[in-house]
Parts: sequence; C-alpha cells; structure tokens
Amino acid sequence: MIDFHSHILPEIDDGAQSVEESLEMLRMLKSQGVNTVCLTPHYLAMDESPDEFLVRREEAFKKLKSAINESDEEFQTLLLGAEVYYYPGICKMEELKKLTLDGTDLLLLEMPMASFGEFAIREIEELTQSSQVQVVIAHIERCIKFQKKGTLERLLDCGVMFQVNASFFNSRKTKRKALNMFKEGTIHFIGSDCHNIKYRPPKIGEAVDIITDKFSKDSLDEFFNNQKEYLN
Ligand SMILES: [Fe+2]
Repeated sequence: MIDFHSHILPEIDDGAQSVEESLEMLRMLKSQGVNTVCLTPHYLAMDESPDEFLVRREEAFKKLKSAINESDEEFQTLLLGAEVYYYPGICKMEELKKLTLDGTDLLLLEMPMASFGEFAIREIEELTQSSQVQVVIAHIERCIKFQKKGTLERLLDCGVMFQVNASFFNSRKTKRKALNMFKEGTIHFIGSDCHNIKYRPPKIGEAVDIITDKFSKDSLDEFFNNQKEYLN
C-alpha cells in the first residue's frame, strides 16, 4: 500500500519535529500495511527557490536515513516529493519538474480552499497538457465545495489526477461522498497527510478498512495496482 502524501521528513515544515517522531510515524504506517511512503513536505515558491528547498529536503532526508540505518528495523520504500502550493504564474516556472515525485512526472499541487477561478484552471490544464508534469491535486475534498459546477469534471477530462486524504473516508460526515468518488474512479491517490503522531497521525489503514468493507478485494487491488502504474 502507498501513502501518497505525508509530512514525515523531520524539521523541514510543520510536520515531524524530530527524527524520532519521523520514525514513529513510519512505524505507525507500517503497522497499517503501508510499504511505500511518499515524503511530501510543503513547498512555497514565495519563500525559497526549488534548489534551496531541495537542499533542505536532502538534509532532512539524510537525517532520516541515518536514523533508519542505525535502527535494526526494516522500514518502507521512501520516495521524495513535495506538496507545491499553487500561485498564479506557476505554469511559467521552469524548475517545476524538479519538484515532482522521485523520478516520476507527478506533481502534488496544493490549491487554495476557494474557487480555483478560470485563470488557475487554465494554468492547471496547461501544465497537464504540456507533458512537463502530471498534476495531482492534493486533498481535493477540501476544495470541492468551493468550485463551480463542472470544474472537477473539466479537470479530470484534461487528465488532472486527484489525491484525497484518508480522513475523507474516516470522517462520518464525508465517508459517503468519499466512497462514491472511489466508486466513480475519480480518486487516484490516497494519502495520510500525517503531520505528527499526536494531532494528525497517519490513519490510512482505517480508510482502507472502510473501502474494503464496501467494495470487493478485486476493486481495491485494481486501485492499488493503478497507483503503482502511475508511480512507474
Ligand atoms: Fe499536506
């Protein structure tokens, strides 16, 4: 199982604040059956250049790797990525490709919790069609209620992918909507979006149990196989 969205890298954003916390989050995910973890710290273009971010990310990753090596435990496959916050003009950013997930063209794009508006939608379409990157919108469930009718369909039609957080399934309020989207095939990735062990711990196993209760093992296998394909 893949966790597509996490803030496990230590001391790089508002996620894990120590290596020990990172390791504990990985252990929690392992106990939930996750064998591949995408490490996606926040990237904000107004704060730093992609190169500056990549240096910081490498430092955090080194810290985590050496702690993993020192432990006698086996951990998951770790993939390096970023959660890139959208800004107007992003499609002109030449170094965007550097922020895609580990050797893939998948770009986890965080949109504001507001109506995307025509300009942003056009930019997302342009990015997706440029074949430079494949846009995956992060926790799309947070954005749905702000969008004009037809916006999500329009994005899906042009090839944009959607990631949802495990909490979309886990919350009683949104579970039905989440299961409907899963059934329609409009969810491409699930992420824990975990930030720490206390207030925003990884709970992806719970979401998978909810899906397993509702759908056949085959459809779940198909979902996870598709995810692997996208990562390849
Ligand atoms: Fe996130």
